[in-house]
Amino acid sequence: MASIAIIGTGYVGLTTGACFSHLGHDVVCADIDEAKVASLSAGEIPIVEKGLDRLVDEGLRSGKLRFVVGAAEASKDAEFHYLCVPTPQSADGSADLSYLETAAAQIGPVLPHGSVVVNKSTVPVGSTRVVAKVLGRSDVAVVSNPEFLREGTAVNDFLQPDRVVIGSQDQEAAIRVAALYSRIAAPIMVTDPVSAETIKYASNAFLASKLSFVNAIATLCEAVGADVSDVVLGMGYDRRIGREFLRPGPGWGGSCFPKDTRALARIAENAGYDFHFLNEVLRVNEDQFGRTAQKLIEAVPADMPDSHIAALGLTFKAGTDDLRDSPAIEVLMRVTAAGVKVKAYDPAVPPERNRLSEMYPDLDIEIVSDPYAAAEDAVVLTILTEWDEFTWLDFDKLAEIMAGNNIVDARNLLDPTIPRRRGFNYRGVGR
Ligand code: UGA
Repeated sequence: MASIAIIGTGYVGLTTGACFSHLGHDVVCADIDEAKVASLSAGEIPIVEKGLDRLVDEGLRSGKLRFVVGAAEASKDAEFHYLCVPTPQSADGSADLSYLETAAAQIGPVLPHGSVVVNKSTVPVGSTRVVAKVLGRSDVAVVSNPEFLREGTAVNDFLQPDRVVIGSQDQEAAIRVAALYSRIAAPIMVTDPVSAETIKYASNAFLASKLSFVNAIATLCEAVGADVSDVVLGMGYDRRIGREFLRPGPGWGGSCFPKDTRALARIAENAGYDFHFLNEVLRVNEDQFGRTAQKLIEAVPADMPDSHIAALGLTFKAGTDDLRDSPAIEVLMRVTAAGVKVKAYDPAVPPERNRLSEMYPDLDIEIVSDPYAAAEDAVVLTILTEWDEFTWLDFDKLAEIMAGNNIVDARNLLDPTIPRRRGFNYRGVGR
């Protein structure tokens, strides 16, 4: 079993570290935030991620997982060094590599001879070379090993991946990194670093394109009177298309797709190719936020301008507490800008720990602690995130407490017959 240093304990770093320790490796995770290191060492997980608490607990108990302050402290005795630091979006849409460069500069002087540095962060094509240059160590190989983890199912995605991609010029280093995954049953693909980095961006941009396409089809379905649920079912039976990632919604978001799609457009531009297709994918998504907001604004009766809408769901998808680039927020920004009041409920955003106001100070909405508190006296109820608990809403109770009877289901989560039977006007997406 190998010794692995993980630099950065965000959701990618923490999941990677916990899963590698579960596979039997000795893992040390580093972060710059002392308080975070202390709470992780006590087994407290700062994010909602299914199964992660159990793996961290298991690793802490067995001694195979430790948390330390500072990248150099983690790297000084390890054989593999996974860079899992953020690559946020710069003002021009490109990825900001400063965290990556800082981490590489910190570990460069302490790396044991012959160890391997692995880029797990989503980095622009060519960054493996940048890291190698900052490290300044000819005795250390730099390998790209992109992550394909979805928030909410990251542990499962790590332990049961569709594939493991390794990009390396150095065949021996690639084999050593591949061996870290020997207990995982998945195809392992070895290619050059630039191709590995491109696989990551191309995969995210392709999935984002699929979603923009399906949202555009949903709009078409509304225009021609088709039912998008049947349309995507019929499409998905074709194995070349596949059934996954065909759910229309209020637009797509999260910390990866918007950032990575813009970054790929920028990478292409810098390389002399105008990837205008991606700009259109992004534009269709903006349109979808606007179209969803418009449905809500239109559903507020003109003679009840002081009433509010009940928004169920704030996170960018169910199963996570992440509010970054959330479609729900994008929609509510537009709705409140039109003067509509909003009371919102999300199981992962309790009012007593209102992170929303810190992240989006301009968004003026009230957060409440259960769906019925949001719905009381509301004229419209909308589902913006597909939390399972919203499928169990008591429509008899809602009919009693709401001031209006409009439902806008931006995730097509509900069976429309149920609210309609209780006298609600139901509008979904593309059906
Ligand atoms: C995404 C990719 O799916 C991962 O493979 C990748 O590793 C990750 O980005 C990353 O680059 O780190 P994630 O951001 O967790 O994962 O979210 P997804 O599950 O892909 O969802 C993205 C958005 O698309 C969400 O707003 C979600 O609600 C939306 N979506 C997804 C739909 O509207 N319909 C669908 O059918 C699927």
